[in-house]
Amino acid sequence: MKYIVGNWKMNLSVRESVALVRGVLRSIQGCEQLPHIVLCPSATALSEAHKLLTRTHIALGAQNAGPDRAGAMTGEIGIAQLEDVGCKYAILGHSERRLKFAESDELVRERLSAVLASDLTPILCVGEPAEVRAAGKEEAYILKQLKLALAGQKIPKGKTLIVAYEPVWAIGSGSPAAPAQAMAMHHVIREYLKSEFKLSGERVAVLYGGSVDGKNAYQFLREPEIDGLLVGGASLKIEAFGQILDSACEVMQAQLSV
Ligand code: PGA
Repeated sequence: MKYIVGNWKMNLSVRESVALVRGVLRSIQGCEQLPHIVLCPSATALSEAHKLLTRTHIALGAQNAGPDRAGAMTGEIGIAQLEDVGCKYAILGHSERRLKFAESDELVRERLSAVLASDLTPILCVGEPAEVRAAGKEEAYILKQLKLALAGQKIPKGKTLIVAYEPVWAIGSGSPAAPAQAMAMHHVIREYLKSEFKLSGERVAVLYGGSVDGKNAYQFLREPEIDGLLVGGASLKIEAFGQILDSACEVMQAQLSV
């Protein structure tokens, strides 16, 4: 099963978000093998999006969460509030949060802990900056991010941990990682989760993110190591996002007929 997650970031009015949700719903009509589709609008549009997504095959996700269910945390969104508006997933530790808002590994760990204790499924983002890759230290960097986010955590039975590998240099740059680079890192992530947390099969999914568009999505999705895509810019354009969803449907249909 593949995942396609749309991260709309700090874009779109409520009215525009509703129109895009409608567009995505239209674009999956006729697809027999649907991937898990998760749309992550801005917090301001979650409630309206939820109304349209109830009883559909599309789930709602938040762009950040916690780190508590509720409380005195000005500017944050509590886990209970996200459950209340129908969120099923939460992106955590996105590089924009880590870099622009100085979210520490410890804060990401706290958010993850709160999400793991809730009904939400976490989408934990990891990714190395360009200079780390240039120095050949990307594996160690990603493993450290994972280790710190997961320190002391227990992944409850029945819960899936989604990790999105998003190299910082690939996000919004128009230059995605090569599928082989993504696959190599996905392998490292998967092995770590298997050996440290006994997570395998349906309980873990590793996604790629960073300059995915309608044209390059297929070359990532056709790889069994790549469980899906976290899409930023291209998820705002229905034509591109529709192509990405079509690619996922095509790959899943082909897998079924093997
Ligand atoms: P992008 O963003 O697809 O625009 O590169 C991906 C992300 O930040 O999740």
